[in-house]
Amino acid sequence: MSTTIRYDYTAARKLISNDQWNGLHATLQAARDEAYDDIAIMHSGNIPAEKQPLDAGFINYPQGLLDEYAKDKKGSLLGRMIASGEMLKSELERLVVLGIGGSYMGMRAIYEALFDPYHNEQDRASRGNTPKLYFEGNNVDNDAILSLLSLLEKGCTDPKELLQRYGIIVISKSGGTLETAVAFRIFKSALENYYGADSAEAKKFIVPVTGEVGKLRDLSNLKGYPVTFPIPDGIGGRFSVLTAVGLLPAAALGVDIVAMLEGAAAMTKAVKEKPVDENPALSYVAVCHLMEKHKGMHTRILSTWGKKMEAIGLWYDQLLAESLGKEEKGAFPLTIVNTRDLHSRGQQHQEGIRDKMITNMIIENATKTALEIPSVPPEQDKDQLNKFAGKGMPEVMAAAIKGTNMAYDDVNRPTADLLIPNLDAHALGEIFQFFMLATVIEGRLIKINPYGQPGVEAYKQNMNAILSGKM
Ligand code: PA5
Repeated sequence: MSTTIRYDYTAARKLISNDQWNGLHATLQAARDEAYDDIAIMHSGNIPAEKQPLDAGFINYPQGLLDEYAKDKKGSLLGRMIASGEMLKSELERLVVLGIGGSYMGMRAIYEALFDPYHNEQDRASRGNTPKLYFEGNNVDNDAILSLLSLLEKGCTDPKELLQRYGIIVISKSGGTLETAVAFRIFKSALENYYGADSAEAKKFIVPVTGEVGKLRDLSNLKGYPVTFPIPDGIGGRFSVLTAVGLLPAAALGVDIVAMLEGAAAMTKAVKEKPVDENPALSYVAVCHLMEKHKGMHTRILSTWGKKMEAIGLWYDQLLAESLGKEEKGAFPLTIVNTRDLHSRGQQHQEGIRDKMITNMIIENATKTALEIPSVPPEQDKDQLNKFAGKGMPEVMAAAIKGTNMAYDDVNRPTADLLIPNLDAHALGEIFQFFMLATVIEGRLIKINPYGQPGVEAYKQNMNAILSGKM
């Protein structure tokens, strides 16, 4: 299957000279080739010092999962994720997903993109017989943790009743992340109290997703959880959404994870093969890089139109910040949600410092029927909206998008559009892979290792020292 999303950079391209554009092609293609060649280098085990760490495993992982699944629907890793997801879906009313950073943002993006914003407020049948979803372990916020514990305690009194059963997917690649480990200790204890510490349910309804070695793996072995899923070596946290990290909770909510992987694999192929002008990731990197280099556009705004894509933007914020924010380089990512943020940030984007490259994320087809602005009797038309009566909300949104981008264009503020015909599982797979590949290719282009996040260690060491009374 081919890709469906399109990157239209016509508006921004007008601000880039032909010399700048054409002059980048050879180095950009070399950066792309280096990103893909890194896969073989990684597997050779002979990784040069300047390339370490090297986590290029995410590039071919979606196709690898699909190939294995095609040969063995039940025994393959993907087949087992689907089966485990189906078990959690059919046996649980509530699912708590514990994780932080790359072990959290991806599933949140999937959830917000594909599910009703009031999913948890609906009855089970209206939710398509899927569990309610809660995220924790992404902070050390006392009150938030207590609120969820209290909700579970009040809502769950008879573990034999489907509507009163909950389970946990705990996700941590290292297994040593404090936020997730603390939350797991707390929620595991609550779950064991509920089902009985040594009961089959207390084991079955906890599914760890973790690296092959580490504290969570050790704990999982000790507890004897019947099902665990790996986060492979060679795939870093923020590149792991298309491993069990995102796929297992998505499957537990009934998402078509095969379609998601097919979207990602199609994007991997397109980025590898297409020439710069038609290549979504290469042209995105070219536009962003040239704008930054020649026009000082260091702030990279992901302008999401509609509420479903905010968490995709937050996922991308992490991806860009942790991958390229090194050696005093790397653009500053900022996600906004329009039209909401036109009323907060719009002024600055129109007239503030010229340091912003705006990428619009636009869903072309609304999933639900268009809601129309109602007409009222003339004497009640005090809000003067009758002149718009009959127009659908998608039409209003389209006018907002067009009007905003025309206003930016009029004053030479660069924009480009990431166009998504339908925001479904396939498109989401494409989007994840598009941004991950673009980030890695940009890293190779600007000579920054996109993998690893050495700067995150400093705060962790201080926090541990303070808690241990050593500071
Ligand atoms: O991108 C990364 O590697 C990080 O953001 C991690 O995902 C995050 O720190 C969580 O790590 P872990 O999965 O080991 O708990």
